[in-house]
Amino acid sequence: MEIDWVELTDSAKAAMAKAYAPYSKFPVGAAALTTDGRIISGANVENASYGLGLCAECSLVSELFRTGGGKLAAFACVDGNGEPLMPCGRCRQLLYEHSAEGMLLQTTVGIKTIQEVLPEAFGPEDLNR
Ligand code: THU
Repeated sequence: MEIDWVELTDSAKAAMAKAYAPYSKFPVGAAALTTDGRIISGANVENASYGLGLCAECSLVSELFRTGGGKLAAFACVDGNGEPLMPCGRCRQLLYEHSAEGMLLQTTVGIKTIQEVLPEAFGPEDLNR
């Protein structure tokens, strides 16, 4: 599957511009390509009760299901300068759940697979052992 990283990054930047991050002042945008060719995105949404803030990846996963579900083939997220950002640990787990085999991520250290950024992941299959 051909991945247009520029298009994905542009989508993440557009989402980042809609972030609600008045507390950290650290807007984040995320975008992903689904295996059926949709581009979905999300932005972080913080809360006055700081710990309740939602990462950009949370709203991306909501959009994944709102637009028909499926699996993620490629993912990119950006900071407020539009530069690549490593997804936080919690969000790597969130992405893993919905990743297609070998999902690619644009990171600060190049294109990586989901397995590389979350080795030996716990996942749905572990619940059936
Ligand atoms: N943030 C994300 O949205 N995704 C990440 O993967 C890293 C962190 C947000 C959470 C918080 O609103 C802000 O960045 C600062 O931590």
